[in-house]
Amino acid sequence: MMSKHRYPAADIAVVERVIRERRDIRHFVAGRLPDGLLDRLLEAAHLGPSVGYMQPWRFVRIVSNETRMALWGIVDAERVATAASLPTRAADFLKLKIDGIREAAEVLVVALMPGREAHLFGRRTLPEMDLASTACAIQNMWLLARAEGIGLGWVSFFDPEAVGELLEMPPGSRPIAILCLGPVAEFPAAPVLESQGWGRRLPMDEVVFEDRWKAGAGGTPTAY
Ligand SMILES: Cc1cc2nc3c(=O)[nH]c(=O)nc-3n(C[C@H](O)[C@H](O)[C@H](O)COP(=O)(O)O)c2cc1C
Repeated sequence: MMSKHRYPAADIAVVERVIRERRDIRHFVAGRLPDGLLDRLLEAAHLGPSVGYMQPWRFVRIVSNETRMALWGIVDAERVATAASLPTRAADFLKLKIDGIREAAEVLVVALMPGREAHLFGRRTLPEMDLASTACAIQNMWLLARAEGIGLGWVSFFDPEAVGELLEMPPGSRPIAILCLGPVAEFPAAPVLESQGWGRRLPMDEVVFEDRWKAGAGGTPTAY
């Protein structure tokens, strides 16, 4: 039976469409975010679910070019270090664009708040649920940005200590994302890592099991 709380079919189609068409974006074009959109994106993030309702997310908007370039430097150093650590495919990896920090209209650093250890509700065995909660907040922002035609890229290639120091973050906080946001020329139909041959979306039967782990099912074929 159809739930009486169900949205109209056209609204459901929009939800499915935005989920399908959301992309991680690293190529931006010139321009700004429409007036008021940044606030709405931040509010969308803040409406996210969080374990024990702890709301562990904190957002730092990067406004100066100097800080933006310092962040980019931290990311680029990590990109080079990642390439050096890959046993193979370093050249393939270096061809990938992994951030749009210098070109994006807006850059936000998302961090976990300090003092998270005081929140035990739901985190006794899985303390990383604070991170999971913050990822949900970012996903909210990602979906609204896509619906607004604005690209968002999640950059995680960085030394958290270096970012923490740059932004004068308090002890116990932890940056987990540099988000690049802005107008784009296009939203690719498939993930860039797929179209560039780095990985592919796994078939459903390799990720969904019944009762027990499916014998022989392992991790992703592309391990790095
Ligand atoms: C937690 C997380 C961290 C990520 N970090 C990076 C990153 O540092 N650089 C990058 O280019 N993409 C990064 N991505 C984006 C992924 O590469 C992207 O989500 C994946 O290739 C699938 O593409 P899609 O998001 O367009 O579906 C990150 C995504 C997530 C969820």
